[in-house]
Amino acid sequence: MGKIVLEGFMGSGKSTYGKALARKLGWSFIDTDALIEDREGRAIPKIFEEDGEDYFRRLETDTIGELSGNEKSDAVISVGGGLPVREKNRDLMKKCGTVVYLKGSEELLYSRLISESESRPMLHGGELRDRIRSLLNEREELYLDASDAVVLIDGKEPDEVLDEIVAIAGV
Ligand code: S3P
Repeated sequence: MGKIVLEGFMGSGKSTYGKALARKLGWSFIDTDALIEDREGRAIPKIFEEDGEDYFRRLETDTIGELSGNEKSDAVISVGGGLPVREKNRDLMKKCGTVVYLKGSEELLYSRLISESESRPMLHGGELRDRIRSLLNEREELYLDASDAVVLIDGKEPDEVLDEIVAIAGV
């Protein structure tokens, strides 16, 4: 049984590509953010507002821990952009299966996030471009550390991205 884990910065299209990939492979699709929101019965901005980032990060560790322990079914898993920041989470992601980093340029991410920053607490406070740049700087090496391979997404058709992921995972 296989699992493909998609990681990357906010706005890199992890969920969109993940859903399409799962459909293509006939696998199930799991999104850690959606799972957390369902279980908590509240949206991520609300969780951050009421209980803070550390609480959310603990939920992420619990979630990826559970997923890494379930070896029974094939699945494409898309993880929140900050989940790979914790070392323990990177280990759990690797335990799940093949980890692919969907890498977008700062320019592309900015253009996608400009209308969507409201729903992402990590982008609040300060100028959007600066927030993206500094978080990307902090996270780039962690994304690389967690991943088996990198797929560049700038200028590519969705099918090209999916084909690359399939080739990497060998499924
Ligand atoms: C976060 C990314 C979000 C979500 C939360 C925190 C981050 O997921 O988990 O708002 O720290 O980068 P997406 O990457 O799906 O937007």
